[in-house]
Order: sequence, then structure tokens, then C-alpha cells
Amino acid sequence: MGVRVSMAGLAAAVAKRGGIGTISCVGLGDLESPWKEYEKSSIEALEREVTKARSMTDGILAVNVMGVLSNVEDLITSAVRAGILVVIFGAGIPTKLPDLVPDTNVNLVPIVSSARVAEIISRTWDRRFERIPDAFVLEGPKAGGHLGFSLEQLDNMEDYSLEILLPELLETVKPFEDKYGRGIPIIVAGGVYTGHDIADMISRGAAGVQMGTRFVATEECDASMEFKQAFLDATEEDIVIIKSPVGLPGRAIRNQLLIDLEEGVKKKLKCPYRCLTACRIDTARYCIAKALTDSWAGDVDDGLIFCGSNVHRVDRMYTVAELIDELMQELLEAEPDPAEAPGVTDMNSTSTRTA
Ligand SMILES: Cc1cc2nc3c(=O)[nH]c(=O)nc-3n(C[C@H](O)[C@H](O)[C@H](O)COP(=O)(O)O)c2cc1C
Repeated sequence: MGVRVSMAGLAAAVAKRGGIGTISCVGLGDLESPWKEYEKSSIEALEREVTKARSMTDGILAVNVMGVLSNVEDLITSAVRAGILVVIFGAGIPTKLPDLVPDTNVNLVPIVSSARVAEIISRTWDRRFERIPDAFVLEGPKAGGHLGFSLEQLDNMEDYSLEILLPELLETVKPFEDKYGRGIPIIVAGGVYTGHDIADMISRGAAGVQMGTRFVATEECDASMEFKQAFLDATEEDIVIIKSPVGLPGRAIRNQLLIDLEEGVKKKLKCPYRCLTACRIDTARYCIAKALTDSWAGDVDDGLIFCGSNVHRVDRMYTVAELIDELMQELLEAEPDPAEAPGVTDMNSTSTRTA
């Protein structure tokens, strides 16, 4: 979770408890610095976070990058150089990713919101690189942050539910699995909240789940207490879909910033570097990188607070260990013989252990 919500603290705590702890690469740089300096400070901050997380755990660490970041390639190569073995790639179609990361020990995991995009990626990688994705994250419309759906699709969310998308994706990856003689685990994301939800998704063929919103209200989450409190306080009525300057819809908690924007207020905006290739700076009414950094730092009135559709259910703080233990307990209750369930058997498999 970016900006800076999931860094070394949260990622290491998740990895320590057997999940895949994911460090977000978004917006790590010094926002006040000039352009070239920003890129340099982004990489330095990423290397710092990876080293810090690694000093806290031997567990599995991943990075999340977004295709719309102007320094995405630099971030990926730096993360791999720092020893990261799982790269989760969202907000873009990573057709050239294997070219950038030829080392097949590094797991390349695109995030998709449709079977069609997964097919394009798999076909392109197979043809050009004789390689297939090591897993997919299938992110449905209930997720937090930027969403891979149009506003119209989000008005009819039930047509794009994980329950509908997952079988389509399982079907799509099958020929590639057969050709390469190995599975492509599907990790589902968006609205997964309890261990019962996890059990349900596993019973439908998912290999694991990626969770965001619930992990914000943890002691180890790297956001400010004000950010976490906004999650604890949010009601269902506070959750809105916004059109981000990146050109994608996003889900957020309605606050003063969003009220101002609804009323046509244009925020002061300076952009010394273009951190997002897709940002429409000429029409943007605020800087999304700054707005997300502000909320992370504690300005929950004028910052942008991304959240998932279950944020109103978040009602208390946990430690990461407590939360994962509770989820595992619920999962075991829901699935009487977990050894039989696909994706729970091998606790060393990266595909089963993401949070
Ligand atoms: C505060 C916040 C920030 C997020 N930032 C990112 C991001 O930078 N990149 C990304 O791929 N997904 C991002 N997401 C999506 C999560 O990684 C995850 O897939 C999603 O939130 C799962 O749904 P859930 O929140 O219902 O568990 C973000 C989600 C939240 C809540």
C-alpha cells in the first residue's frame, strides 16, 4: 500500500508471520527535492526500506510497483539488486517486464482485473521471452487505492466480482500452465476481510489472498496514527469513488479535501518532477503524490485517504501477529481439513502466503 503505508515495518511483520510482506515503491522520494534528486532519493529510500525489512526477518519480502511511475524500471532493478525475489506490478500492462528482470529466480507477479489482460500478458511473455507469470494478483472492484475498472463498471460491481472473475482467469491461465508444466497461482484481492472469506476464495480455486485495508489498523503499519484512526472512524457512508489525476478511479474516505474538490476548489500545485507518467498535470486539481503523502503523515483533512470497500468494518487495532493468527483460526474453522485445501498445504510456497 502506497504512499508509504506499507514499508519495512508492516512488510517485515507480515513476512515474519508467514505472509509475503510487500513494500510499496510509490512516492518514497523526497517531495520537496528537484526532479533528478527526487529519483535518486526514491531509490535510496527503497534500498533503505528493503535493508531495514531484511534486518527484521528472513521471511518473504516483495515490492509493489506501479506501471504509471516514471521511474518504474529504476525501482524494479534497484529492488532486485537489493535482493527482492517477488515483484508485484500493478497499474499497467507489464509486457516487457521479463526483459527488465531476466533472472528467473525473481517471481514476476502482474496485478490484473480481468482474464483478458492476463491473457495478453501471458501470451506476450510466452512468445517473446518463453516465460509465463509466476503468479497473478486478481484485484476485484472492492479493493482500495486505484482500481482497474471504469466508473461504469464500478456502478455494476456485482458483474465484476471475484466470484465471477476468478473462474474466468483460472480458465485463461490453464493452457499456459499446461504448456509450461507448472501452475500459475492466482492470488485474489479486494474485499477479503475474514478467514472465512479466505477459505471461500481458496475453495473457488485461489491460491492465496492479498489484503490491504485490514492491515492498516495494525501497530506495525507504517502510516501515522491519524491515518489509522481515519480507518477506525470511517462509516460506510464515508466511502467514495474518486477520479484520480492519474486517470483511474480510486476508492477513498470522504474528507475535507474531497469536499473541496467536489466544490471546485483547485489546490496549489507544483510539479518539479513527473513522478507519474499518466498524471494529467494540465487538468489536475491537486497533486496526488502530495495528497497521499500528507494523509500518511497525519493530515487526514487535506490529504487523500485511499481505502478498501470494507474500511467501515475496521473497528480495532491489532498487531500483525494477532490479525494473521485470527485469520488463520477462522480459516481453519471454515475448512475442517486444511491439509486438503489447495494453497494451504505448503506453507513455504510464496503463492499461498500473501497479506
Ligand atoms: C491505503 C491503500 C493504498 C494502496 N496502494 C496501492 C498501491 O500503491 N499499489 C497497488 O498495487 N495497490 C494498492 N492498494 C491496493 C492493495 O494493495 C490491495 O490490493 C487492496 O487494497 C486489497 O483490498 P482490501 O483493501 O479490501 O483488502 C492500496 C490499498 C490501500 C487501502
